[in-house]
Amino acid sequence: MRPTTRHRGNQRAAELRARALRRLPGGVGSNVRLASATAFFARGEGARLWDVDGNEYIDYLLGQGPNFLGHAPPPVMAAVADACRNGIVYGAQHPLEVEAAERLCEVLRWPDMVRFGLSGTEMVQAALRLARAVTGRRKFISFEGHYHGWLDNVLVAVDGATPGPASAGQWPEHLADTVVLPWNDADLLADRIAEQGEEIAAVIMEPMMCNAGAIEPRDGFLPQVRRLCDAHGIVLIFDEVITGFRLAPGGAAERFGVVPDLATYGKAMAGGWPVSALAGRGDLMERFGSGAVNHSGTFNGSVMAAAATLATLDLLTSRPPYAAIADVGGALMAALPELGRDHDLPLRVQGVPAAFHVSFGPPDAVHDYRGLARLDGERYARLAEALQDHGVWVAPRGIWYVSAAHGDGELAQTLQRVAATLHEADPSWA
Ligand SMILES: Cc1ncc(COP(=O)(O)O)c(C=O)c1O
Repeated sequence: MRPTTRHRGNQRAAELRARALRRLPGGVGSNVRLASATAFFARGEGARLWDVDGNEYIDYLLGQGPNFLGHAPPPVMAAVADACRNGIVYGAQHPLEVEAAERLCEVLRWPDMVRFGLSGTEMVQAALRLARAVTGRRKFISFEGHYHGWLDNVLVAVDGATPGPASAGQWPEHLADTVVLPWNDADLLADRIAEQGEEIAAVIMEPMMCNAGAIEPRDGFLPQVRRLCDAHGIVLIFDEVITGFRLAPGGAAERFGVVPDLATYGKAMAGGWPVSALAGRGDLMERFGSGAVNHSGTFNGSVMAAAATLATLDLLTSRPPYAAIADVGGALMAALPELGRDHDLPLRVQGVPAAFHVSFGPPDAVHDYRGLARLDGERYARLAEALQDHGVWVAPRGIWYVSAAHGDGELAQTLQRVAATLHEADPSWA
């Protein structure tokens, strides 16, 4: 366990780590968490986390995104507790599920129908299966740096010359129908669709690339993708698992004004509760309803999931947090590079106030995964560890998420803690 500079101690975490290593592979429950395997939290409230040794952090990872309302938002907790008193899962329909589906379509505005599930990974697969069923085609186009879950056909390593499997146990054949292109280049996409359009069932993308950087689509890119899909009978899937409800109530589709055919949601949709959704055009989604396309799940649309979704959507529409997040996140985005300049450090920030990316490198905007790879992410990862030791909980990969619970107090304290980190006498990240 690495030494802490500011924090009181880590004895309890060290004990838990030793126990975790014996019973949980790598001591974690998700490979993504191998990056923070020594951290054990006891409590989260609002924008803050407390670890098992009593150290406090301002949280900018938000559970990888779900805690958009802050940790343990009281109205969501109360709605879940109330709803599940009458049972948890029925294996049949219930009123809250219908209400949650109605509200979701109303808030998102464009979809006709929705299916609920448990994870984003699963909804991506449902979307791809549906697109293949509708088009009778096998292949789909995805993009370098975009993450669509951990399953065989979407988990892609793009470090080498050609995209390939990213995990042991995954074979090149698993990616035989996956066409991976650089993102944000409409001409390249048009060329590939001109060559292979008849074989392509779907184009899937994060409409703003948040898993690698926080990179917005270039002007005109999304409308051009929409036109290409329309012209070639290709289903356009937005993976809004991160952008949904975060960029706007209607997610990236609303923010960028481009409507997909299908979209996946999760994370910010339910105040931290584990639930995901696939929303889409009625003529496509009906294929699930007719039974032609299978999507199933014992826990889909559970009482708690529906209650958490409804309570979250109520909050997002009755007390929209977007302006306040723009203020706090915007102030951070402006202040971090300035703090860097004070220390002659090329600290750079890119993205939007609700989701931005911090790294070391030239300030010019990057537009795709290859541009991102040219920045000094490794050095930033070391800085992120030092920031954690100073009470700023950020991911080594550079993303900062801002929640509705981050206020002026968190902003001021964060900047103090970042400044203290940059002042360190013998920094590990230099
Ligand atoms: C854009 C995107 N799609 C899909 C997923 C997978 O979602 P889950 O982890 O809920 O399976 C993630 C997870 O981070 C994601 O960011």
